[in-house]
Amino acid sequence: MTSISLDAPYDVRSLDLADEGKRRSEWAERSMPVLRQIRQRFLKEKPLAGRKVSCCLHVTTETANLMATLRAAGAEVALCASNPLSTQDDVAAHLVRDQGVHVYAIKGEDHETYYTHLAQALAFGPDLTQDDGADLVSSLHMVKLGRLEDLAGPIRRMVEAMSPAERTALVARVRGSTEETTTGVIRLKAMAKEGILAFPIIAVNDSRTKHMFDNRYGTGQSTLDGIVRATNVLVAGSTFVVAGYGWCGRGLAMRARGAGAQVIVTEIEPVAALEARMDGFEVMTMAEAAPRGDVFCTLTGNIHVIRAEHFLAMKDGAIVCNSGHFNVELDLEALAKISSEHRAVRNFVEEFVVDGRRILVLGEGRLINLAAAEGHPASVMDMSFANQALAAEYLVKNEATLGRQVHMLPREVDVQIATLKLAAMGTHFDVLTPEQVTYLASWDAGT
Ligand SMILES: NC(=O)c1ccc[n+]([C@@H]2O[C@H](COP(=O)([O-])OP(=O)(O)OC[C@H]3O[C@@H](n4cnc5c(N)ncnc54)[C@H](O)[C@@H]3O)[C@@H](O)[C@H]2O)c1
Repeated sequence: MTSISLDAPYDVRSLDLADEGKRRSEWAERSMPVLRQIRQRFLKEKPLAGRKVSCCLHVTTETANLMATLRAAGAEVALCASNPLSTQDDVAAHLVRDQGVHVYAIKGEDHETYYTHLAQALAFGPDLTQDDGADLVSSLHMVKLGRLEDLAGPIRRMVEAMSPAERTALVARVRGSTEETTTGVIRLKAMAKEGILAFPIIAVNDSRTKHMFDNRYGTGQSTLDGIVRATNVLVAGSTFVVAGYGWCGRGLAMRARGAGAQVIVTEIEPVAALEARMDGFEVMTMAEAAPRGDVFCTLTGNIHVIRAEHFLAMKDGAIVCNSGHFNVELDLEALAKISSEHRAVRNFVEEFVVDGRRILVLGEGRLINLAAAEGHPASVMDMSFANQALAAEYLVKNEATLGRQVHMLPREVDVQIATLKLAAMGTHFDVLTPEQVTYLASWDAGT
């Protein structure tokens, strides 16, 4: 059992990696002009002065720039990973050494250490949290509801050692939270529906400048990148099976087709299935796709999308991975049960032998774009993290009036972020003429 030293200032692989993390974070910063401008304003205005922010995010070079922005705003910041495989150890070291961030994250950390790090981020005593998958917020609510048995071991032990007054204070101190991803927002909306939310949430994912770009173009490109880096598979001429045609699935299907793959889409939602069909993809059930695919990727936010019956039907050498938030989309327990052999054959590639056929599972079924590649390009995270930074400011400014619901950032924030991004890209766009404003606002103007 790991003993939690709650007041440890950080826990990273090695501070010796900090120079490399700094260099790479500066490289990402070049492609993050919107966040840079927000940081400059925050430096002057200090909107988060005196606030403690605990973040549970992928520890990447882009996140380093968000952390620097929160620090510029005057916040004290703790950061743990939102996935055991997504941490970039050099970035973690850089944030500790150069930004004074309390980072608790090590790439490849085991289950116990992962949750110990979450416990440390909670023990930091945040006023605000930032989640990617709702882990901090759901832990805080388990504490509030007294459901300690549902907490992961290290968090449960930390909370059990607290007095009832300390537990109450831990939750009561939090004035709001932001959520980065679709899966987290779904969970938080379920909590709001049950009426149990203890503080307001800003669903950053629901901003148009987030999901339309990050989920689609970011996930599309970086997922293909992760699959290629892990396997060096030739995409051209392969058959790619994309499970889920939401924002992420659309992005991957588009990019895989662009690289020359024949793309099959599976869906459970008729409108999305129809859209995929009319976008020119083959649409079928997973049972039909299983014997045809060379590469399978799930991006649904759902559980057990690829199951034993599908693995049993796959070709020798089929590559299977996931880019949805949690590692539950592939039923890997069922695969282990039906396999006669199992071994690691390459970094991030495990081979399972089923009826003499080899099935290759990438990145333990975790987000392949973060496990085997670097996550989304900085240019797209620029907009996602501009939303995160502005959401933190918005929560502080409006904490007296925001209800305990899941909120979107106001539309003007989306417009502001898109406008700044277009300006940085040197792209001009038209504005409405006064005549057009009048025309659009009337119901009886000329036909
Ligand atoms: N890899 C990344 O970096 C990254 C980035 C953003 C979001 N995500 C995650 O990816 C997942 C998808 O996000 P999204 O924004 O595309 O969500 P979305 O809601 O837009 O799309 C999900 C789609 O999956 C479909 N689906 C659900 N169950 C299915 C099943 N059994 N078979 C086939 N299709 C099914 C839904 O009908 C929906 O169309 C979420 O878990 C999200 O948190 C990952």
